[in-house]
Amino acid sequence: MIARRKNLIGILLTLSVLTTGAWAQTTDQEAHLAIENPADLSKDEARQHYRSLTRRMERGYAAAQLDLILNYQNWPLFNDAPYISATHGQRYVNSYANRLAHNYATLQEGEVLPVGSVLAKDSMTVTDEGKVYPGAMFVMEKLPAGTNPDTADWRYVMVMPDGSLFGDTMGFRAGAVAYCHECHEAVADRDYTFYVPEEFRVVE
Ligand code: HEC
Repeated sequence: MIARRKNLIGILLTLSVLTTGAWAQTTDQEAHLAIENPADLSKDEARQHYRSLTRRMERGYAAAQLDLILNYQNWPLFNDAPYISATHGQRYVNSYANRLAHNYATLQEGEVLPVGSVLAKDSMTVTDEGKVYPGAMFVMEKLPAGTNPDTADWRYVMVMPDGSLFGDTMGFRAGAVAYCHECHEAVADRDYTFYVPEEFRVVE
């Protein structure tokens, strides 16, 4: 895990220096390098910041042309306010699930989500200096049985806020997002989903 992180940081450094030279900005926006000082927001503040960004986020991710997440902002939302996700780079995140994933909230041990279920977690960065900007989008898609036994038929995709694809376990730079499933394996008994932290759940 640590070695992978280092690799990732190395790749990002190289990429950002090569492509833009704007190293600070690029790494800041990278979802899996934790930001150092996330602001401590109330639920209301978090909601307000999110509202101010939603259009921009939608446009950004849409540039990825990933049909999978078209209109995700109209899907059921399972948290009552954006919450800090330590495992997704200390960003404020939301947990959306498409309608096919009807049992995402109520999944019992050993049950699985239907094929075609898509879970979308968008994110925003809020620093303690009050800077707010869109973060990466994290996606899980349940594939037909047998498609990819290595990941229990889950596909993981990470999209950068500008719509560029960071990685897709079923395609582009699959290795860059292999660590997603490694962590999600911890909740294999809940079909590899962690669900929302208790204090932010809309559905218990
Ligand atoms: C170190 C552990 C860890 C890693 C690595 C990780 N996740 Fe997660 N993921 C979690 C946890 C914990 C949650 C639930 C809490 C939260 O929302 O942060 C979660 C939630 C999610 C959800 C909402 C569905 C659910 O599990 O309830 C999606 C979608 C998701 N992650 C996608 C990804 C993708 C894509 C990657 C890789 C780019 C990734 N995750 C990497 C731990 C991880």
